[in-house]
Amino acid sequence: MQSSLPLTIDRGSGVPLHLQLAEQYRAAVLDGRLQAGHRLPSTRDLARELSVSRSVTQAAYDQLHAEGWIEGRTGAGTFITDVAPLQPAVRRRGEHRSDPDADLLTLRPGIPFIPPTPDPGWRRAWRVVSTQSPPRGYDDAAGLPALRAALADHVARVRGIACGPENVLVTNGTVHGLRLLFTVTRERGDRIAIEDPGYLNAVIAARDHQLEIVDVPVDEDGLQVGALPDDAAAVYVTPSHQYPLGGRLPVARRNELVRWARRTDSLLIEDDYDSEFRYDVAPLPALAHLDLDRVVHLGTLSKTLSPALRLGWLVASEPMVDRLATFRANSGDWPAWPMQAALLAMLQDGYLDRAVRRSRRLYAERRTHTVETLSPYGQVIGQDAGLHVTLVLPDTIDDRKLAATAREAGVVIAPLSEYRRTTPGPPGLVIGYATPTPKALHQALTILTKVLRGH
Ligand SMILES: Cc1ncc(COP(=O)(O)O)c(C=O)c1O
Repeated sequence: MQSSLPLTIDRGSGVPLHLQLAEQYRAAVLDGRLQAGHRLPSTRDLARELSVSRSVTQAAYDQLHAEGWIEGRTGAGTFITDVAPLQPAVRRRGEHRSDPDADLLTLRPGIPFIPPTPDPGWRRAWRVVSTQSPPRGYDDAAGLPALRAALADHVARVRGIACGPENVLVTNGTVHGLRLLFTVTRERGDRIAIEDPGYLNAVIAARDHQLEIVDVPVDEDGLQVGALPDDAAAVYVTPSHQYPLGGRLPVARRNELVRWARRTDSLLIEDDYDSEFRYDVAPLPALAHLDLDRVVHLGTLSKTLSPALRLGWLVASEPMVDRLATFRANSGDWPAWPMQAALLAMLQDGYLDRAVRRSRRLYAERRTHTVETLSPYGQVIGQDAGLHVTLVLPDTIDDRKLAATAREAGVVIAPLSEYRRTTPGPPGLVIGYATPTPKALHQALTILTKVLRGH
Protein backbone atom coordinates (compact mmCIF):
# COMPACT_ATOMS: atom_id res chain seq x y z
CA MET A 1 0.00 0.00 0.00
CA GLN A 2 1.31 3.38 -0.90
CA SER A 3 1.49 5.81 1.98
CA SER A 4 -0.45 9.03 1.91
CA LEU A 5 1.48 10.48 4.80
CA PRO A 6 0.87 14.21 5.07
CA LEU A 7 4.23 15.84 4.71
CA THR A 8 5.16 19.44 5.14
CA ILE A 9 8.10 21.40 3.92
CA ASP A 10 9.25 24.54 5.67
CA ARG A 11 11.57 26.49 3.41
CA GLY A 12 12.24 29.15 6.02
CA SER A 13 13.39 26.87 8.84
CA GLY A 14 17.04 26.63 7.80
CA VAL A 15 16.90 22.82 8.07
CA PRO A 16 17.78 21.18 4.73
CA LEU A 17 14.63 19.95 2.98
CA HIS A 18 15.76 16.32 2.69
CA LEU A 19 16.38 16.19 6.44
CA GLN A 20 12.91 17.60 7.11
CA LEU A 21 11.40 14.82 5.00
CA ALA A 22 13.51 12.07 6.53
CA GLU A 23 12.59 13.23 10.03
CA GLN A 24 8.86 13.13 9.28
CA TYR A 25 9.15 9.56 7.96
CA ARG A 26 11.10 8.48 11.03
CA ALA A 27 8.53 10.03 13.35
CA ALA A 28 5.68 8.35 11.47
CA VAL A 29 7.32 4.92 11.84
CA LEU A 30 7.99 5.44 15.52
CA ASP A 31 4.46 6.56 16.37
CA GLY A 32 2.93 3.75 14.30
CA ARG A 33 1.44 5.83 11.49
CA LEU A 34 3.63 3.95 9.03
CA GLN A 35 4.03 0.22 9.54
CA ALA A 36 6.43 -2.36 8.18
CA GLY A 37 5.57 -3.18 4.55
CA HIS A 38 4.08 0.22 3.73
CA ARG A 39 5.06 1.24 0.24
CA LEU A 40 6.45 4.75 -0.20
CA PRO A 41 5.76 6.90 -3.25
CA SER A 42 8.52 7.00 -5.83
CA THR A 43 10.99 9.82 -5.40
CA ARG A 44 9.68 11.34 -8.62
CA ASP A 45 6.01 11.31 -7.48
CA LEU A 46 6.86 12.61 -4.07
CA ALA A 47 8.94 15.43 -5.53
CA ARG A 48 6.07 16.43 -7.76
CA GLU A 49 3.56 16.26 -4.91
CA LEU A 50 5.68 18.48 -2.67
CA SER A 51 6.96 20.77 -5.39
CA VAL A 52 10.57 20.08 -4.55
CA SER A 53 13.36 18.84 -6.76
CA ARG A 54 13.84 15.13 -7.13
CA SER A 55 17.31 15.40 -5.62
CA VAL A 56 15.63 16.37 -2.34
CA THR A 57 13.38 13.31 -2.18
CA GLN A 58 16.21 11.08 -3.36
CA ALA A 59 18.52 12.43 -0.63
CA ALA A 60 15.80 11.84 1.99
CA TYR A 61 15.31 8.25 0.86
CA ASP A 62 19.08 7.66 0.72
CA GLN A 63 19.33 8.85 4.29
CA LEU A 64 16.46 6.66 5.51
CA HIS A 65 17.88 3.73 3.59
CA ALA A 66 21.31 4.18 5.12
CA GLU A 67 19.75 4.26 8.58
CA GLY A 68 17.73 1.10 7.90
CA TRP A 69 14.20 2.56 8.00
CA ILE A 70 13.34 1.69 4.38
CA GLU A 71 14.37 -0.89 1.80
CA GLY A 72 14.11 -1.02 -1.96
CA ARG A 73 12.67 -4.14 -3.60
CA THR A 74 13.67 -4.53 -7.22
CA GLY A 75 10.80 -3.76 -9.54
CA ALA A 76 8.34 -3.29 -6.65
CA GLY A 77 9.27 0.03 -5.05
CA THR A 78 10.43 1.29 -1.65
CA PHE A 79 9.00 -0.09 1.62
CA ILE A 80 9.19 0.52 5.33
CA THR A 81 11.38 -2.23 6.80
CA ASP A 82 9.99 -4.57 9.41
CA VAL A 83 12.66 -3.78 11.96
CA ALA A 84 12.64 -0.21 13.06
CA PRO A 85 16.24 0.80 13.69
CA LEU A 86 17.32 1.67 17.16
CA GLN A 87 16.79 5.33 17.77
CA PRO A 88 19.92 7.08 18.91
CA ALA A 89 19.65 7.84 22.60
CA VAL A 90 18.06 11.19 23.17
CA ARG A 91 20.83 13.41 24.34
CA ARG A 92 19.86 15.63 27.13
CA ARG A 93 21.41 19.01 27.00
CA GLY A 94 24.07 19.25 29.71
CA GLU A 95 22.35 20.75 32.66
CA HIS A 96 24.06 23.91 33.64
CA ARG A 97 25.69 23.12 36.93
CA SER A 98 26.50 26.41 38.50
CA ASP A 99 28.96 26.44 41.36
CA PRO A 100 26.80 26.86 44.49
CA ASP A 101 29.75 28.50 46.24
CA ALA A 102 30.55 30.95 43.46
CA ASP A 103 29.19 33.97 45.33
CA LEU A 104 30.74 33.06 48.66
CA LEU A 105 34.11 34.00 50.07
CA THR A 106 36.43 31.02 50.01
CA LEU A 107 39.13 29.92 52.39
CA ARG A 108 39.28 26.40 51.00
CA PRO A 109 42.89 25.37 50.47
CA GLY A 110 44.47 24.52 47.16
CA ILE A 111 44.01 27.41 44.75
CA PRO A 112 46.65 30.11 44.25
CA PHE A 113 45.93 33.79 43.73
CA ILE A 114 45.43 34.48 40.03
CA PRO A 115 46.24 38.10 39.12
CA PRO A 116 43.26 39.70 37.37
CA THR A 117 45.37 40.93 34.45
CA PRO A 118 47.84 38.65 32.73
CA ASP A 119 51.50 39.34 33.40
CA PRO A 120 53.73 40.48 30.48
CA GLY A 121 55.87 37.36 30.99
CA TRP A 122 52.83 35.17 30.56
CA ARG A 123 51.86 36.97 27.36
CA ARG A 124 55.41 36.77 26.03
CA ALA A 125 55.43 33.00 26.45
CA TRP A 126 52.26 32.59 24.40
CA ARG A 127 53.60 34.90 21.72
CA VAL A 128 56.64 32.63 21.46
CA VAL A 129 54.34 29.61 21.06
CA SER A 130 52.22 31.34 18.44
CA THR A 131 55.20 32.00 16.20
CA GLN A 132 56.17 28.33 16.01
CA SER A 133 54.67 25.60 13.86
CA PRO A 134 53.66 22.52 15.84
CA PRO A 135 55.87 19.45 15.52
CA ARG A 136 55.26 17.29 12.50
CA GLY A 137 54.74 14.02 14.28
CA TYR A 138 53.62 12.75 17.64
CA ASP A 139 56.73 13.97 19.39
CA ASP A 140 58.23 12.36 22.47
CA ALA A 141 55.72 10.72 24.84
CA ALA A 142 57.91 11.69 27.81
CA GLY A 143 57.60 15.38 26.88
CA LEU A 144 59.37 17.87 24.62
CA PRO A 145 63.11 17.14 24.87
CA ALA A 146 63.98 20.80 25.41
CA LEU A 147 61.35 21.09 28.14
CA ARG A 148 62.60 17.96 29.89
CA ALA A 149 66.08 19.47 29.90
CA ALA A 150 64.80 22.81 31.21
CA LEU A 151 62.79 21.07 33.94
CA ALA A 152 65.79 18.97 34.94
CA ASP A 153 67.75 22.21 35.42
CA HIS A 154 64.81 23.71 37.30
CA VAL A 155 64.38 20.89 39.81
CA ALA A 156 68.14 20.61 40.26
CA ARG A 157 68.31 24.30 41.07
CA VAL A 158 65.20 24.75 43.21
CA ARG A 159 64.78 21.25 44.68
CA GLY A 160 68.38 19.99 44.80
CA ILE A 161 67.65 16.87 42.72
CA ALA A 162 70.68 15.92 40.62
CA CYS A 163 69.07 14.75 37.41
CA GLY A 164 69.08 15.08 33.64
CA PRO A 165 66.38 15.22 30.96
CA GLU A 166 66.25 11.42 30.93
CA ASN A 167 64.86 11.55 34.49
CA VAL A 168 61.97 13.88 33.64
CA LEU A 169 58.51 13.13 32.32
CA VAL A 170 56.10 16.00 31.65
CA THR A 171 52.65 15.36 33.14
CA ASN A 172 49.22 16.95 33.34
CA GLY A 173 49.81 17.60 37.02
CA THR A 174 50.34 15.60 40.18
CA VAL A 175 47.25 13.45 40.04
CA HIS A 176 47.90 12.54 36.43
CA GLY A 177 51.45 11.51 37.32
CA LEU A 178 50.23 9.55 40.31
CA ARG A 179 47.63 7.67 38.30
CA LEU A 180 50.12 6.92 35.57
CA LEU A 181 52.50 5.55 38.15
CA PHE A 182 49.77 3.37 39.65
CA THR A 183 48.67 2.14 36.22
CA VAL A 184 52.13 1.13 35.14
CA THR A 185 53.99 0.06 38.26
CA ARG A 186 51.48 -1.15 40.83
CA GLU A 187 49.68 -4.46 40.85
CA ARG A 188 46.06 -4.80 41.96
CA GLY A 189 46.06 -5.53 45.69
CA ASP A 190 49.44 -3.94 46.35
CA ARG A 191 49.52 -2.20 49.69
CA ILE A 192 50.17 1.50 49.56
CA ALA A 193 50.79 3.58 52.66
CA ILE A 194 49.15 7.01 52.59
CA GLU A 195 49.34 9.74 55.20
CA ASP A 196 46.27 10.02 57.43
CA PRO A 197 45.04 12.76 57.39
CA GLY A 198 46.06 13.15 53.80
CA TYR A 199 45.33 14.19 50.26
CA LEU A 200 41.98 12.77 49.23
CA ASN A 201 42.76 12.65 45.51
CA ALA A 202 45.71 10.37 46.23
CA VAL A 203 43.40 8.09 48.20
CA ILE A 204 40.82 8.06 45.41
CA ALA A 205 43.49 7.31 42.80
CA ALA A 206 44.78 4.38 44.87
CA ARG A 207 41.25 3.04 45.33
CA ASP A 208 40.54 3.35 41.62
CA HIS A 209 43.60 1.18 40.98
CA GLN A 210 42.41 -1.42 43.49
CA LEU A 211 45.36 -0.84 45.78
CA GLU A 212 45.00 -1.66 49.44
CA ILE A 213 45.42 1.53 51.42
CA VAL A 214 47.25 1.53 54.72
CA ASP A 215 46.55 4.65 56.76
CA VAL A 216 49.76 5.97 58.31
CA PRO A 217 49.54 8.51 61.13
CA VAL A 218 51.03 11.94 60.88
CA ASP A 219 52.35 14.27 63.59
CA GLU A 220 53.46 17.88 63.58
CA ASP A 221 56.60 16.91 61.61
CA GLY A 222 54.78 14.85 59.00
CA LEU A 223 54.63 11.14 58.25
CA GLN A 224 55.44 8.85 61.18
CA VAL A 225 58.00 6.63 59.50
CA GLY A 226 58.06 4.22 62.43
CA ALA A 227 54.41 3.35 61.73
CA LEU A 228 55.01 2.13 58.16
CA PRO A 229 54.20 -1.54 57.60
CA ASP A 230 57.10 -3.46 56.06
CA ASP A 231 54.88 -5.00 53.39
CA ALA A 232 53.87 -1.69 51.77
CA ALA A 233 54.85 -1.64 48.09
CA ALA A 234 54.74 2.15 48.00
CA VAL A 235 54.34 5.18 50.23
CA TYR A 236 52.66 8.41 49.23
CA VAL A 237 54.15 11.29 51.20
CA THR A 238 54.11 15.13 51.21
CA PRO A 239 57.45 15.85 52.94
CA SER A 240 57.83 19.55 52.13
CA HIS A 241 54.44 20.51 53.65
CA GLN A 242 52.32 17.65 54.90
CA TYR A 243 48.86 17.91 53.45
CA PRO A 244 46.85 19.09 55.31
CA LEU A 245 48.62 19.44 58.70
CA GLY A 246 51.61 21.28 57.26
CA GLY A 247 54.61 19.60 58.93
CA ARG A 248 57.99 19.63 57.18
CA LEU A 249 59.60 16.23 57.40
CA PRO A 250 62.89 16.72 59.28
CA VAL A 251 66.16 15.49 57.78
CA ALA A 252 66.51 12.62 60.25
CA ARG A 253 63.05 11.31 59.33
CA ARG A 254 63.77 11.68 55.62
CA ASN A 255 66.89 9.57 56.03
CA GLU A 256 64.94 7.06 58.06
CA LEU A 257 62.25 6.91 55.36
CA VAL A 258 64.73 6.27 52.55
CA ARG A 259 66.52 3.67 54.67
CA TRP A 260 63.18 1.97 55.31
CA ALA A 261 62.36 2.00 51.55
CA ARG A 262 65.71 0.45 50.68
CA ARG A 263 65.29 -2.26 53.29
CA THR A 264 61.72 -3.11 52.28
CA ASP A 265 62.26 -2.52 48.55
CA SER A 266 59.39 -0.06 48.31
CA LEU A 267 58.79 3.00 46.22
CA LEU A 268 58.45 6.45 47.79
CA ILE A 269 56.11 8.81 45.98
CA GLU A 270 56.96 12.38 46.89
CA ASP A 271 54.14 14.87 46.24
CA ASP A 272 55.98 18.19 46.17
CA TYR A 273 52.86 20.24 45.45
CA ASP A 274 53.65 23.57 47.13
CA SER A 275 57.33 23.50 48.11
CA GLU A 276 57.97 26.75 46.23
CA PHE A 277 56.39 28.61 49.13
CA ARG A 278 58.21 28.70 52.41
CA TYR A 279 58.54 31.51 54.95
CA ASP A 280 61.41 32.32 57.30
CA VAL A 281 62.76 28.77 57.22
CA ALA A 282 65.71 27.30 55.38
CA PRO A 283 64.88 25.24 52.29
CA LEU A 284 65.09 21.48 52.54
CA PRO A 285 66.01 19.63 49.37
CA ALA A 286 63.41 17.26 47.96
CA LEU A 287 63.31 13.69 49.23
CA ALA A 288 64.21 12.60 45.70
CA HIS A 289 67.65 14.15 46.04
CA LEU A 290 68.49 11.37 48.52
CA ASP A 291 67.81 8.47 46.17
CA LEU A 292 66.26 8.78 42.73
CA ASP A 293 66.11 4.99 42.43
CA ARG A 294 63.71 4.84 45.37
CA VAL A 295 61.79 8.10 45.08
CA VAL A 296 59.43 9.32 42.38
CA HIS A 297 59.05 13.07 42.69
CA LEU A 298 55.89 14.85 41.51
CA GLY A 299 55.88 18.59 40.83
CA THR A 300 53.09 20.81 39.52
CA LEU A 301 52.23 24.26 38.22
CA SER A 302 48.90 24.09 40.06
CA LYS A 303 50.10 26.15 43.03
CA THR A 304 52.58 28.42 41.30
CA LEU A 305 50.59 29.48 38.22
CA SER A 306 47.17 27.84 38.01
CA PRO A 307 45.60 24.39 38.40
CA ALA A 308 43.76 25.07 35.14
CA LEU A 309 47.00 24.67 33.20
CA ARG A 310 47.03 20.95 34.02
CA LEU A 311 50.78 20.73 33.82
CA GLY A 312 53.42 19.20 36.03
CA TRP A 313 56.43 16.92 36.01
CA LEU A 314 57.56 13.61 37.35
CA VAL A 315 61.20 13.02 38.20
CA ALA A 316 62.42 9.45 38.61
CA SER A 317 65.12 6.98 37.66
CA GLU A 318 65.70 6.61 33.94
CA PRO A 319 64.26 3.07 33.72
CA MET A 320 61.12 4.25 35.52
CA VAL A 321 60.71 7.23 33.18
CA ASP A 322 61.24 4.96 30.15
CA ARG A 323 58.63 2.56 31.40
CA LEU A 324 56.07 5.30 31.95
CA ALA A 325 56.87 6.92 28.59
CA THR A 326 56.44 3.62 26.74
CA PHE A 327 53.01 3.23 28.25
CA ARG A 328 52.14 6.78 27.30
CA ALA A 329 53.36 6.32 23.74
CA ASN A 330 50.70 3.64 23.40
CA SER A 331 47.95 5.49 25.23
CA GLY A 332 48.43 8.91 23.63
CA ASP A 333 47.98 10.47 27.03
CA TRP A 334 50.50 13.26 27.40
CA PRO A 335 50.29 17.06 27.64
CA ALA A 336 49.50 18.97 24.48
CA TRP A 337 52.32 20.62 22.60
CA PRO A 338 51.21 24.27 23.08
CA MET A 339 51.18 23.90 26.86
CA GLN A 340 54.58 22.27 26.91
CA ALA A 341 56.01 24.87 24.54
CA ALA A 342 54.59 27.66 26.71
CA LEU A 343 56.11 26.24 29.88
CA LEU A 344 59.45 25.94 28.11
CA ALA A 345 59.22 29.61 27.12
CA MET A 346 58.28 30.56 30.69
CA LEU A 347 61.26 28.69 32.11
CA GLN A 348 63.68 30.12 29.57
CA ASP A 349 62.41 33.62 30.20
CA GLY A 350 62.61 33.27 33.99
CA TYR A 351 58.87 33.97 34.26
CA LEU A 352 58.10 31.04 36.53
CA ASP A 353 60.76 32.10 39.04
CA ARG A 354 59.49 35.67 39.01
CA ALA A 355 55.88 34.58 39.46
CA VAL A 356 56.88 32.43 42.44
CA ARG A 357 58.86 35.24 44.04
CA ARG A 358 55.97 37.65 43.63
CA SER A 359 53.42 35.21 45.03
CA ARG A 360 55.70 34.36 47.92
CA ARG A 361 55.69 38.00 49.01
CA LEU A 362 51.89 38.22 48.72
CA TYR A 363 51.33 34.97 50.54
CA ALA A 364 53.75 35.84 53.32
CA GLU A 365 51.59 38.85 54.22
CA ARG A 366 48.35 36.92 53.94
CA ARG A 367 49.74 34.11 56.04
CA THR A 368 50.81 36.51 58.79
CA HIS A 369 47.38 38.13 58.78
CA THR A 370 45.66 34.73 58.90
CA VAL A 371 47.83 33.37 61.71
CA GLU A 372 47.47 36.52 63.81
CA THR A 373 43.70 36.60 63.37
CA LEU A 374 43.11 32.95 64.17
CA SER A 375 45.64 32.30 66.92
CA PRO A 376 43.24 33.27 69.74
CA TYR A 377 40.85 30.50 68.67
CA GLY A 378 43.15 27.48 68.62
CA GLN A 379 46.58 26.27 67.64
CA VAL A 380 47.64 27.39 64.15
CA ILE A 381 49.98 24.80 62.63
CA GLY A 382 51.76 24.28 59.33
CA GLN A 383 52.58 27.93 58.86
CA ASP A 384 56.19 27.59 57.68
CA ALA A 385 55.31 26.74 54.11
CA GLY A 386 52.67 26.42 51.45
CA LEU A 387 49.37 28.18 50.82
CA HIS A 388 47.37 27.10 53.82
CA VAL A 389 47.48 26.72 57.60
CA THR A 390 45.50 24.45 59.87
CA LEU A 391 43.66 25.69 62.92
CA VAL A 392 43.48 22.89 65.47
CA LEU A 393 40.41 23.22 67.69
CA PRO A 394 39.34 21.82 71.05
CA ASP A 395 37.97 18.26 70.96
CA THR A 396 34.51 19.43 71.92
CA ILE A 397 34.00 21.19 68.59
CA ASP A 398 32.37 19.48 65.61
CA ASP A 399 34.40 20.93 62.74
CA ARG A 400 31.88 19.91 60.06
CA LYS A 401 29.12 21.75 61.87
CA LEU A 402 31.43 24.71 62.24
CA ALA A 403 32.19 24.69 58.51
CA ALA A 404 28.46 24.48 57.77
CA THR A 405 27.80 27.50 59.98
CA ALA A 406 30.63 29.40 58.30
CA ARG A 407 29.14 28.59 54.93
CA GLU A 408 25.77 29.93 56.00
CA ALA A 409 27.58 33.09 57.06
CA GLY A 410 29.17 33.32 53.59
CA VAL A 411 32.58 31.66 53.96
CA VAL A 412 33.52 28.32 52.45
CA ILE A 413 36.04 26.43 54.53
CA ALA A 414 37.34 22.86 54.83
CA PRO A 415 36.90 20.96 58.12
CA LEU A 416 40.00 19.00 59.07
CA SER A 417 37.93 15.86 59.63
CA GLU A 418 37.26 15.79 55.87
CA TYR A 419 40.87 14.65 55.43
CA ARG A 420 40.89 12.03 58.16
CA ARG A 421 40.25 8.37 57.48
CA THR A 422 40.89 5.98 60.39
CA THR A 423 43.52 7.71 62.51
CA PRO A 424 41.79 9.79 65.16
CA GLY A 425 42.86 13.34 65.86
CA PRO A 426 41.52 16.69 66.98
CA PRO A 427 39.04 18.69 64.92
CA GLY A 428 40.13 21.77 63.02
CA LEU A 429 39.85 23.93 59.96
CA VAL A 430 42.15 23.88 56.93
CA ILE A 431 42.48 27.45 55.79
CA GLY A 432 43.73 28.44 52.37
CA TYR A 433 44.83 32.06 52.47
CA ALA A 434 46.23 32.38 48.95
CA THR A 435 43.09 32.55 46.80
CA PRO A 436 41.28 35.72 47.95
CA THR A 437 42.41 39.28 47.54
CA PRO A 438 43.70 40.84 50.79
CA LYS A 439 40.35 42.60 51.21
CA ALA A 440 38.33 39.42 50.65
CA LEU A 441 40.67 37.54 52.99
CA HIS A 442 40.10 40.13 55.68
CA GLN A 443 36.32 39.91 55.23
CA ALA A 444 36.38 36.12 55.28
CA LEU A 445 38.51 35.99 58.42
CA THR A 446 36.26 38.53 60.14
CA ILE A 447 33.23 36.37 59.44
CA LEU A 448 35.07 33.23 60.46
CA THR A 449 36.17 34.65 63.80
CA LYS A 450 32.56 35.60 64.53
CA VAL A 451 31.51 32.03 63.79
CA LEU A 452 34.34 30.70 65.98
CA ARG A 453 33.28 32.92 68.84
CA GLY A 454 29.74 31.58 68.47
CA HIS A 455 31.04 28.05 68.95
C1 LIG B 1 48.47 17.50 48.31
C2 LIG B 1 48.24 17.99 46.91
N1 LIG B 1 48.96 17.47 45.92
C3 LIG B 1 48.80 17.90 44.65
C4 LIG B 1 47.88 18.87 44.34
C5 LIG B 1 47.77 19.36 42.93
O1 LIG B 1 47.39 18.38 42.05
P1 LIG B 1 47.45 18.69 40.49
O2 LIG B 1 48.87 18.98 40.15
O3 LIG B 1 46.96 17.43 39.86
O4 LIG B 1 46.57 19.85 40.21
C6 LIG B 1 47.09 19.41 45.34
C7 LIG B 1 46.06 20.41 45.01
O5 LIG B 1 45.22 20.80 45.77
C8 LIG B 1 47.29 18.98 46.66
O6 LIG B 1 46.57 19.49 47.66
